[in-house]
Amino acid sequence: MKYIIKNGTIVSGKETKTADILLEDGMIEKVEENLTNTPIAIDAKIIDASGKYVFPGFIDAHTHFDLEVSGTVTADDFETGTKAAIVGGTTLVIDFATQNKGETLKEASSNWHKKAEGRCSCDYAFHMAISDWNQEARRQIADMMEEGITTFKLYMTYPAMILNDGEIYEVLKELKKYGTFAGVHCENAPLIDAFIAEKKAKGHLGPDSHPLCRPPQVEAEAIHRLLVIAKEADNPVMVVHTTSKAAMEEIEIARAKGQKVYAETCPQYLLLDDSYFSLPDFKGANYVCSPPMRKSADQDYLWEALKLDEIQTISTDHCSFTTEQKKMGIHDFTKIPNGMPGVETRGELMYTYGVGQGKITLEQMCRLLSETPARLYGCYPQKGCIAPGSDGDITIIDPHKTKTIRAEKQMQNVDYAPFEGFEIKGCVDSVFLGGKLVVEDGKLVKANQGRFISRRQPELL
Ligand code: URP
Ligand code: ZN
Ligand code: ZN
Repeated sequence: MKYIIKNGTIVSGKETKTADILLEDGMIEKVEENLTNTPIAIDAKIIDASGKYVFPGFIDAHTHFDLEVSGTVTADDFETGTKAAIVGGTTLVIDFATQNKGETLKEASSNWHKKAEGRCSCDYAFHMAISDWNQEARRQIADMMEEGITTFKLYMTYPAMILNDGEIYEVLKELKKYGTFAGVHCENAPLIDAFIAEKKAKGHLGPDSHPLCRPPQVEAEAIHRLLVIAKEADNPVMVVHTTSKAAMEEIEIARAKGQKVYAETCPQYLLLDDSYFSLPDFKGANYVCSPPMRKSADQDYLWEALKLDEIQTISTDHCSFTTEQKKMGIHDFTKIPNGMPGVETRGELMYTYGVGQGKITLEQMCRLLSETPARLYGCYPQKGCIAPGSDGDITIIDPHKTKTIRAEKQMQNVDYAPFEGFEIKGCVDSVFLGGKLVVEDGKLVKANQGRFISRRQPELL
C-alpha cells in the first residue's frame, strides 16, 4: 500500500513545516508540498493530517522486556511491551539484552533474539548489558558490533549485574576502540546497603524507606565517580535515568571541564515525586524504581535542563511488574521488584506536559524522543527523521484530542498505571511502521510488524 500523509505539520529537530509525505515500499519516498495534486497520488491512500503534528517515529532507548530479575520476570514481554510501545507512538525500542553472570555476550544476545523474534509490534534493537567482565566478554565486543548491538550498559549497583570501578574503566576503554560508549546506572551500592541495614534495624520495612536508602547523593556520588573513570578511559558515557539536581550538577561540572557526557531522563522523574512511595495499602510499592523519584525542585531542575538542551534523550526505563509481583516485598521493601511501566505513555505525556505547557518546543521533543537517540544509538537517518530514504516510521499526534490515563485502558500488561488520572491533551492518532499503517485513531490495527534493527556505530555528538 502506498500512502500520502497530507498537509500535516512535520516536526524535525530543527523546524516545523507543512508538507505531504509519500510512503512506499516501507520507506519515505518524498516530502514535498501538494503531492496529492500529482499523478503519484492516483493509487495512494490519502491520510489527512491537517492540524496534526507529524513526528519521526519515537525511539525508546531504555526498556526491559522479558527480564528475569529479583526472583521474577517482568510483566511485559516483547509481545505486550511492543504493542504498548506502538500505540504510544514508539516505533523502535532498544531493549537491554542482559548477560547473566557465567554467560557470554553471544549467549545473552542469542537469548534476547529468541525472546523478541516474531513477537514484536514495533521495531526492536538491543544494547548489551555486561554483568560479567572477563577476557571472553572483551573479545566478544567485536562480535556484538558486528551483530549490530553497538551500544552497551553497565550497572554500578544490583548484585546480579554490578561491575566494580576497575572493571568499568576497562570496559569504557575497550569500547573506545570501537568508537562506541556505554550507558551506566549510577548509584553507590555499598552506601545503599548501609542505609538499608539502618532502616531494617529500626523495623522500617515499608516502600517509603526505599527512597530514603537511595537519596540523590547516592546517585550523584556514583555519577561523579563514573565521570572520573570515564575521563581516565577517555571515552564519553551516557548517564541513564538521571533523576535529580545533584545528578545534573555532576554532569554539568564534568562538561564544563571539557568532558563529553550524555544524559537521559524519564517521564517519572519529570512528573512524579517521592510522595508516591507513601501511598497507603502498599500502593507505594508500585512506584518503587531505582533511582527513585525525587522532590518537585528536582523536577523543575530537570525541566530547565531539558529546555537548555543539557539532557539528550527521554526514555522510559520500562520495567513492569504487576501489583501481585510487587507484593514480594510486602514485609520487606528491599524485596519489591524495582521498576515501573512507561513505554505506552511517554510521547503523550511529553507532548502534554512538555510542549503543551511551554517547557520544551516541538523541535526539542523531536530531538529528545526521535532524532538524538537515533544519532547516538547508530541508526540515523534510517530512524529519527522524516526524509526521503528513511524508514516509513511516523507518529501523528492530534493536539486537540484528549483523554485520561487509566490502567484499565492500557496495553501494558500491568494492572496499574503510574500516571493514573493524568489528563492528556494531544493524543497519538496514527502510527506508521515501515510504511504500514499500524495504529489508527489510537488503536492497534496491525500487530507483529516489528523487525530487528541492526545498528551502526554511534554518532558521538
Ligand atoms: O528500577 C528500575 N529502574 N528497574 C529497571 C532496571 C534499571 O535500573 O534500569
Ligand atoms: Zn537502571
Ligand atoms: Zn533500566
